[in-house]
Amino acid sequence: MDTKLRVHRAPKTLITGNGCVSQIGIEAKKLNGTKALILTDPGVACSGSVTDVERPLRDAGLEVGIYDKAVPEPPMSSVEEIVSFTKKGGYDIVIGFGGGSAIDIAKVVAALAPNNDRLEDYVGVDQVPRKGLPLIAVPTTAGTGSEVTAIAIFANEKLNVKQGVVSPYLIPNIALVDPVLTYSCPAGVTAASGMDALIHCVEAYISVNATMHTDPLAAEGIKLISKSIRTAVYDGASAWARHNMAMGSLLGGIAFGNAGVGAVHALSYPIGGTFRVPHGVANTLMLPWVMEYNMLACLRWFRQIGEVMGEDMTGLSDREAAAKTVTAMRQLADDLNLPQYLSDVNIPESAIDDLADSAMGQTRLLDNNPRKLTREDVVQIYRNMAVRPGSRPLS
Ligand SMILES: NC(=O)c1ccc[n+]([C@@H]2O[C@H](COP(=O)([O-])OP(=O)(O)OC[C@H]3O[C@@H](n4cnc5c(N)ncnc54)[C@H](O)[C@@H]3O)[C@@H](O)[C@H]2O)c1
Ligand SMILES: [Fe+2]
Repeated sequence: MDTKLRVHRAPKTLITGNGCVSQIGIEAKKLNGTKALILTDPGVACSGSVTDVERPLRDAGLEVGIYDKAVPEPPMSSVEEIVSFTKKGGYDIVIGFGGGSAIDIAKVVAALAPNNDRLEDYVGVDQVPRKGLPLIAVPTTAGTGSEVTAIAIFANEKLNVKQGVVSPYLIPNIALVDPVLTYSCPAGVTAASGMDALIHCVEAYISVNATMHTDPLAAEGIKLISKSIRTAVYDGASAWARHNMAMGSLLGGIAFGNAGVGAVHALSYPIGGTFRVPHGVANTLMLPWVMEYNMLACLRWFRQIGEVMGEDMTGLSDREAAAKTVTAMRQLADDLNLPQYLSDVNIPESAIDDLADSAMGQTRLLDNNPRKLTREDVVQIYRNMAVRPGSRPLS
């Protein structure tokens, strides 16, 4: 029984469904917006969907500017220029349009534009002093769930690590989740960001901060994503698969935004920060190895996760069922052609000590994990996954 004091946060308004992006002008008006900045990145801009956001804003009478040079997996240093652009343009509402990268940038740009603070001062938990400009998030991946979370993640180039800005002031006022916007998402991004969404659900479900409010969302997210992700990747035009992925990602965002994520994310951040492996790829790489480590601490939860994924657990002990769930996750990563060994992404064994030091610094995430990790445990996990059997170790 969960009897701890809990706080649950999410955007005030969630709008979902095919074509719902057409509502953005009406919603921006309700937030008293007169001049909107659409913040996106070159990949999304090339997909041609920026007009789907721009047109309804203009139709509602807003002036609109576009910044489409946001850098995916954003480095901290990339933010300053966008904040100046926003200040100079006199924008009074920000639209984060893209994957987690564009939305995360939009969150901190909205917070920084009305003042002279620096992003570096906001790193950590509750360091943002006040709400910034109104913010609407419109995801084009399924996804990070960033449209509903209080988190923005940046690569700290000096420390070679990913760092989080965590504050309720970053939660978008409105999230518009339109599955149609993900149709143009390339297969590789669909696979990696879709696995990130699944991992949010799994880590939220087993988090020590899971609650009766987050568990049903996480479980439904696992169900939706596990039954749809293969189709979304290999038949990107499938409307039902794209819809399930977008909704699963949204549910995962609300679940992990409140319950937190754990050791998969903690051990993947140094891989992303140091070796520039995209967030979803790095998380998928870590998932089965961290699940193997966590398994004995959460046999029944893993059994339940496997059941929700559609695995037949009849007649199996909890231990056998939990192991079957880990195998199902490995199979999924394999089917999606995502790497599972450090050597697959050109990380040499000699990097393991530094990776472990960096991962141990992710205390905010490690504290959520159901089984505690010492530095030796972390080193052992990285060693277990160092070299793909049959391949040569990297020097
Ligand atoms: N704030 C949070 O709660 C949170 C949670 C998880 C991850 N993140 C962060 O989010 C980032 C990753 O986000 P992501 O996985 O959504 O990918 P992304 O935003 O980095 O996008 C990846 C690539 O896909 C392209 N793309 C995105 N949508 C497209 C579309 N519909 N059509 C064509 N191209 C498209 C982009 O242009 C980009 O090149 C990382 O920086 C990660 O750390 C944030
Ligand atoms: Fe994530």
